[in-house]
Amino acid sequence: MPELDNSSDDIEQENSVKENKIISKNDFLKEISSKYAIVCEDLFKDYEIGDFIVRAVDNVSLSIHNGEFLVIKGPSGAGKTSFLNLIGGLDSPNRGVLYSFGVKISDMEEESLTTWRLLNTGFIFQNYNLISTLTAEENVMFPMNLSGVAFKEQRKRAEELLRKMGLHERREHLPFQLSAGEQQRIAIARALANDPPMILADEPTANLDKKTSQFIRDLFKELKDDIRTIIIATHDDYLINLADRILSFDDGKIIDEEIIRKFE
Ligand SMILES: Nc1ncnc2c1ncn2[C@@H]1O[C@H](COP(=O)(O)OP(=O)(O)OP(=O)(O)O)[C@@H](O)[C@H]1O
Ligand SMILES: [Mg+2]
Repeated sequence: MPELDNSSDDIEQENSVKENKIISKNDFLKEISSKYAIVCEDLFKDYEIGDFIVRAVDNVSLSIHNGEFLVIKGPSGAGKTSFLNLIGGLDSPNRGVLYSFGVKISDMEEESLTTWRLLNTGFIFQNYNLISTLTAEENVMFPMNLSGVAFKEQRKRAEELLRKMGLHERREHLPFQLSAGEQQRIAIARALANDPPMILADEPTANLDKKTSQFIRDLFKELKDDIRTIIIATHDDYLINLADRILSFDDGKIIDEEIIRKFE
């Protein structure tokens, strides 16, 4: 794909040259919005702890196609979660440009970013992150409530999703009354609540029993067949086998890329 030269911090130049191809800024944006779920250029994320700086994401440039199933692998501390947090709009980069579905999210204000996140992404965390004071059903309704879905519709969709997860009977329970596997299934229902075009998942089958892990794997297979963009940090062989592309991270960088299915 043609890339935009963003050697200046903001992309203001009329023309950009790379790979011997000259494209205007408008053409570039048109191209990324129609084809890509994510386009990032020279992305950096640093964490400062006192005088110590950890570079968790180190100069990452990458495009992820609409409908692509991308797996991110790498050892502990490689920067997988930090990278997912950036592309999911949960955190902001220190440097670099990040577009999602043609919208520049790297320098978006928090309020707009929250709205963007609600409508475009479903995030599945390794530790579920359910709201402890809300019931299973209320947790699933929560993102729909924030995005202004009518109450009746929220309940109907939550009921549907909880049934799909085999947890309809547990809808009145609070997270602490549910097992790890049940909490993860609620978290997945919540991630799907607003029917987002992109699902981000951070080791979604880690530390779960065999049956729940298989349930979640089958669900990801179904989501893949739905032609949604799916980006997962995982070491689960079954999920890796579903991938269109596998990226290996280490020290905040992409150190290897394996393309299984090429997108044009
Ligand atoms: N909030 C934070 N504050 C300070 N350092 C952080 C923070 N989050 C991550 N880091 C550091 O950034 C680096 C990348 O961490 P990250 O959690 O992204 O790795 P990971 O690949 O997801 O690891 P794991 O497989 O253990 O989940 C690590 O060195 C980590 O200590
Ligand atoms: Mg992690």
